[in-house]
Amino acid sequence: MKIKVIHGPNLNLLGIREPNIYGPLKLEDINKNMETFAKQNGFDIEFFQSNHEGDIVDAIQESLTDGTNGIIINPAALTHTSISIRDAIAAVRLPTIEVHISNTAAREEFRQKSLISPVVAGTITGFGPFSYHLALIAMIQILNELKQGQNK
Ligand code: DQA
Repeated sequence: MKIKVIHGPNLNLLGIREPNIYGPLKLEDINKNMETFAKQNGFDIEFFQSNHEGDIVDAIQESLTDGTNGIIINPAALTHTSISIRDAIAAVRLPTIEVHISNTAAREEFRQKSLISPVVAGTITGFGPFSYHLALIAMIQILNELKQGQNK
């Protein structure tokens, strides 16, 4: 089974970008940690980052035909604005988990609304880069349950 991890705008700058908020880890470090854990649990994992809304919509849509079983997404700033990413997630109907590094509820008012949260299985927010690891644990649980259901 394959998990696709999608990172939105400016997350390519992790490590340099506001380290007081987002921490010192680079995106490649986060991806590497996730890859190790996914492999240990028998899952394939693929990573995609883009600063462009339409490219993220394409990556979500492609999940319908590229063997993806579940999506972990940090839509970054697009969380608060993007109806097209929300609609794409609703359209593909794959298990999807929303992730945020920072605790968006404790930040500026404009970050407190997510257009994405209503269409995902759940949201993990505020644990620093460890949010991704928690999301991966949750996704593995969801997909293992689905697999067990199919074998019944
Ligand atoms: C973020 C929170 C967003 O509000 C912000 O625009 C980001 C990162 C997070 O992971 O904490 O770019 O999604």
